[in-house]
Amino acid sequence: MSFNSDFIWGAATSSYQIEGAYKEDGKSLSIWDVMCEKPGAVFDSHTGKIACDHYHLYKEDVQLMKDIGLQAYRFSISWPRIFPSGTGKINSKGMDFYKKLCDNLLENNITPFATLFHWDLPYELYTKGGFLNRDSTDWFAEYAATVTKELGDRVQHYFTINEPQCIQYLGYGSGEHAPGLKTGLRDLLLIGHHLLLSHGKAVQAIRANGSSSVQVGWAPTCSGLYPATEKAEDIAATEMAQFDVTTEYNGTEFNSFGLTYFNDPVYLGKYPDKMFSLFGEYMPKIEQEDMKIISQKVDYHGHNVYNGVAIKSDGKGGYLYCKRDIGYPHTAMNWPVTPECVRWLPKNIAKRYGVPIYITENGLSNQDWVALDGKVHDSTRIDFLHRYFIQMKKAIEEGTPIKGYFQWSLLDNFEWSNGYKERFGLIYVDYETQKRTLKDSALWYSDVIKSNGDTL
Ligand code: FCB
Repeated sequence: MSFNSDFIWGAATSSYQIEGAYKEDGKSLSIWDVMCEKPGAVFDSHTGKIACDHYHLYKEDVQLMKDIGLQAYRFSISWPRIFPSGTGKINSKGMDFYKKLCDNLLENNITPFATLFHWDLPYELYTKGGFLNRDSTDWFAEYAATVTKELGDRVQHYFTINEPQCIQYLGYGSGEHAPGLKTGLRDLLLIGHHLLLSHGKAVQAIRANGSSSVQVGWAPTCSGLYPATEKAEDIAATEMAQFDVTTEYNGTEFNSFGLTYFNDPVYLGKYPDKMFSLFGEYMPKIEQEDMKIISQKVDYHGHNVYNGVAIKSDGKGGYLYCKRDIGYPHTAMNWPVTPECVRWLPKNIAKRYGVPIYITENGLSNQDWVALDGKVHDSTRIDFLHRYFIQMKKAIEEGTPIKGYFQWSLLDNFEWSNGYKERFGLIYVDYETQKRTLKDSALWYSDVIKSNGDTL
């Protein structure tokens, strides 16, 4: 069996990483604009002020999507473009940008998948405590209601929040991402709870205000664990590890990059028991209706997955993380290349939660440049995607309900604290001239899409 005829092949971006126009048409500053002002926070003091200038070049970018043959495009909406103060008065010029973008996508037969929050919180809301403040859950619901009402029939597919794990840990734990804070366990767990509640309230707001056929989910991430061998005990050990809650992550006190901490509340209406036994008094106050709001029924699960770790049985009913091989393959950003993660993680997600899945991000940063012949020969990206697609296909053949795939990213873009150093795009961007060049991988992906995966 090949990919279903309604399988969706797409690519993804996010607002701060590509739009630029950082204070145009009434947009206010986001926490990422402010993070970029902080000495040492971003590689070579790069900023997203101009980025890929997508705000002005979106029509050209949609044409490139069409050239590749993309069936869907996952983008995010910049909250401070819509609400310069975070709440209250809407900035209609900012909203118009997304209406025009969606109209243009639809005219070109590309289905818009909109993410409401991909990290660019209005700075004004940060000054009010950001996600540490429980009111953030209402601010987010107001924003979600407004966007869905304004976009109306144009958008039938939403994701509420991108990678709550990174917002929480990288933003408020390690401080590597905006707002750049290093808080402790109590604050991290509180932020996590508010992100969950924000998600739940946004699902309600989207259903109440979007088109009658609107669909919604969220887009978390986690490490994709896979069995070291196909022996039954290693498969069982992998499942056990994937569903576990642990404290081991880079030696810190708390690993939010597991699957179940953020997803059990959404799909099962409760935190994993182990959260309480591990973190006891540090757990946030859970108000009466919270878990009910958090576990609103969603239509699908989005998952960003880049890599994972092999797991084997410890021979005693437990599991072990395998050490990586000497000289293991890794990307330009040093992320390991582990294609099996896109087979086993979706399989385990479907097993535990019984939801249809979109792979909402997957890809790699690569050492790309324009060759003497004017082209970008990113053969390693082709090989990477090919390997991951083979595993994704295997998962589908085994009955895992994967409905679509979004390559990260459409364009080279602002890779957060790494600035423009890392190139994740199917399309090469010359940041001096804003010239776009389709990389070899874009042409390869185009053939995969045309054949609906038969070329793999
Ligand atoms: C994910 C982010 C995305 C991009 C990729 C490489 O964690 O969601 O914005 O930075 O990693």
